[in-house]
Amino acid sequence: MSLAAPLKKEKKKLIKPKQIEVQKIMKPVKDIKKLQATIEVQDLSVSFIQYTKGLQQKDLKVISSLNIDIHPGEILAVVGSSGSGKSLLAHAILGILPSNATVTGKITYKGEPLTSKRQEKLRGKEIALVPQSVNYLDPLMRVGKQVRTAVKDGDPIKAQREVFSRYYLKPEVENLFPFQLSGGMARRVLVSTAVVSGAQLIIADEPTPGLDTASVKEALKCFRELADHGAAVMLISHDIETALKIADRIAVFYAGTTVEVAPVEDFKGKGEGLRHPYSKALWGALPQNDFMPIAGFQPLPSALPPGCLFEPRCSMVTPDCSKAQPEARTLRNGMVRCIHAT
Ligand SMILES: Nc1ncnc2c1ncn2[C@@H]1O[C@H](COP(=O)(O)OP(=O)(O)O)[C@@H](O)[C@H]1O
Ligand SMILES: [Mg+2]
Repeated sequence: MSLAAPLKKEKKKLIKPKQIEVQKIMKPVKDIKKLQATIEVQDLSVSFIQYTKGLQQKDLKVISSLNIDIHPGEILAVVGSSGSGKSLLAHAILGILPSNATVTGKITYKGEPLTSKRQEKLRGKEIALVPQSVNYLDPLMRVGKQVRTAVKDGDPIKAQREVFSRYYLKPEVENLFPFQLSGGMARRVLVSTAVVSGAQLIIADEPTPGLDTASVKEALKCFRELADHGAAVMLISHDIETALKIADRIAVFYAGTTVEVAPVEDFKGKGEGLRHPYSKALWGALPQNDFMPIAGFQPLPSALPPGCLFEPRCSMVTPDCSKAQPEARTLRNGMVRCIHAT
């Protein structure tokens, strides 16, 4: 009797609050994974040819053996410091890398290889980018028209006006050229373009810097809504806190690779649920946690260590860490690249 009573109570507690955190109840990670991935990136490497002294060529590896997947209805946040390869991953998926980039690995969209021909066909339609730089807007076209050309269904003018009002862009803004906009307004125009496109894969590359609090909230809410309507969303951010607000899973990038992919719930407490020492250190460095900065620097592509890329900064390092880059392995409903992770 004394044992049964608290159990009963517990059961009630679990059933009752069905309104909270709608997105997590709707999409537990194990259910998402049953669907075919919208995008799957396997073993992606990107390098640039660099000319050194005496016209010698050197391969500069900026992304190495990177893996991610995103399913319909899911937001995958990609977090990592500047230079970790986040934008290059986005550009590789869209097929807009510079022509001197060499790409290896496999990118699959809805189960079929994403060839350059398909990339060209789907770009701006099924696959939309909210770019990091506002310079992606056409400088010679009024912004209202730019958004209208991206509208997939219905009346383009109506759709453009609705989306502008949603992002606090006044009606007269539609007649302006990009150079007449503030940085924040230009960013809201970029988000609007992705929203009206009806894309099934949305890649938002640091979409919130420069936005006021209301627009950040609105932009994040809108990515969540797009996912809840079945889109797969990749939200690139160097800010874990923004990512945690709306993402289902977090991919942690370091020096051009994914060191961990974790369900958002694992970012809590002292980070005990996290798998990789770098993710734990990133979590611990937040002001609301221990505020402990990580000593050292992310290695440059020209000076990558031979083994684990985090080895020179890792507190758990052993001689085996420098032998080879650890393989990506599944661990507790996530992925990790560390031989010591348990
Ligand atoms: N066109 C290029 N040629 C050579 N190196 C590049 C080029 N573009 C990016 N890189 C390098 O690739 C790395 C990853 O860049 P990027 O994906 O833009 O980082 P992030 O978006 O995470 O800040 C950086 O070290 C950057 O200097
Ligand atoms: Mg970037």
